[in-house]
Amino acid sequence: MSFPFISTCVQGTRIKFSRVGGALSGMVLGGAALLATTVHAHAAASAPNVENGRYLARAADCEVCHTAEGGTPYAGGRAFSLPGVGVMYAPNITPDKTAGIGAWTDQQFVDAVRKGISPHWKHLYPAMPYPAYARMSDAEVRDIRAYLATLPPSAQKTPENSVKFPFSIRSLMVFWNMLNGPAASYANDPAKPADWNRGRYLVEGPGHCADCHSPRTRTFGLDTSRALGGNVVNGWRAYNLTPDKQSGLGAWSDEALAQYLSTGHADGHGTAAGDMADVIGHSLRYLSASDIHAMVVYLRSIAPLHTTEDTVEARTPTAGDASLPQNTRGARLYASACAGCHMPDGTGRQSSFGTITGARSLGADNGRNLVQLLVQGSGMQTTTGVQIMPHFAGGGLSERDLADIASFVMTHFTTATPHNMEQAVHDARQAD
Ligand code: HEC
Ligand code: HEC
Ligand code: HEC
Repeated sequence: MSFPFISTCVQGTRIKFSRVGGALSGMVLGGAALLATTVHAHAAASAPNVENGRYLARAADCEVCHTAEGGTPYAGGRAFSLPGVGVMYAPNITPDKTAGIGAWTDQQFVDAVRKGISPHWKHLYPAMPYPAYARMSDAEVRDIRAYLATLPPSAQKTPENSVKFPFSIRSLMVFWNMLNGPAASYANDPAKPADWNRGRYLVEGPGHCADCHSPRTRTFGLDTSRALGGNVVNGWRAYNLTPDKQSGLGAWSDEALAQYLSTGHADGHGTAAGDMADVIGHSLRYLSASDIHAMVVYLRSIAPLHTTEDTVEARTPTAGDASLPQNTRGARLYASACAGCHMPDGTGRQSSFGTITGARSLGADNGRNLVQLLVQGSGMQTTTGVQIMPHFAGGGLSERDLADIASFVMTHFTTATPHNMEQAVHDARQAD
């Protein structure tokens, strides 16, 4: 590329509560011209399909981001905070005529969702995953609009963003889009079977899996050369999804992968936590069995990549209370704080969701997700209610206690060698 861009990638930036890895922070800055190049496709208007819109809104997980914690669904207000950059809020997208999108035309809605351009040339930041949503057709996005139009309007005002200069100049997103922005919608690959094409569409389009699971380039676009090779988002490791045997999904059976994606738990691989628990609870568990199968087919077909961060070797502890060693602080603390739900051998006492044997989080990336779990806890909506793993920060346990528990878990359940766990716990608590 010959554009005279200055790329400002803020290292280590993390969007709190966000579903993306801080896309804003890598925004490409420079130049001043505003190139407005929207092609308005006037597709033949057929009646929108509300049920299809509801299904796609779930597959695309719109509600999670556009709802404040405990707030009215789709009324916006969820904060996305980027250290060093500022705070932005997902807007109200209920059909309210002033506070929401009730007064928009369908084309304006399609442009916002597929191109990241709201009315009056308001360029959206890619915290809204429009580059992925561009994979959907205009007609599908109109279906989503038709579904949103059936929701009760909410007059809740979206708080003003407080994004710092120069990130506050929305039109600079034009340049980011040139480098990293939306592709066209999707042509199926006629050489591939229908389920593969459907799976690719769901993973790359509405599911926007790469937003969390792909590493980023210096300008914070998705690194397509390492697609789905794992990344750190909000302090959690979103693991390698490629078919590599050790560090990816290569050793999972198709059944286990389908079970994980549709329920959040797979025997021998643990239970989804953190942002992935949200993805399962609000989105993937609503998908049809054939769509889950299609995603499995597609994930099996991508290029395998090996990543050291995601490599972990499980150790199988013997069952039974007597087998729990009591000779370290970590072991004694596990016995009192964890074994009540996870048993000494990692099997769930109340339900299979608590069975954590074989989970990558027990050791991968120096216990990164394990530490996040201890500090933040996790919760997932399931057909049998919310599965909650409580957090342990701030209660009776010190940072050293949590570090000792993490070290014990890592060595009891895996062959990992923990290093500097107290610092890891401290960092996770600072960021919380
Ligand atoms: C990862 C979080 C996330 C997801 C998922 C998401 N959005 Fe957004 N969306 C945002 C954020 C943040 C903004 C505001 C961005 C900004 O201020 O530039 C936004 C902006 C929008 C806007 C522009 C509103 C306005 O007033 O300008 C629309 C419309 C929208 N989203 C619709 C959707 C739909 C429909 C879906 C699902 C297909 C969806 N969003 C999924 C985070 C998300
Ligand atoms: C908002 C970020 C986010 C999005 C979007 C997301 N994931 Fe994840 N994913 C994660 C995180 C974080 C984990 C680790 C969860 C844990 O520690 O239990 C994870 C874990 C997983 C795992 C388990 C991997 C393992 O080795 O244990 C699979 C499989 C997975 N995701 C598939 C998907 C698919 C398919 C999509 C798209 C439909 C997707 N994810 C979208 C964040 C995300
Ligand atoms: C009240 C019951 C309860 C207690 C106490 C509890 N957990 Fe959990 N834990 C759960 C449940 C339920 C899940 C699955 C839900 C989720 O991940 O969102 C889980 C998940 C996990 C996971 C798997 C996450 C993954 O990515 O696969 C690990 C590891 C874990 N817990 C470790 C611990 C440790 C260590 C302790 C003690 C400090 C502990 N838990 C205490 C209920 C509990």
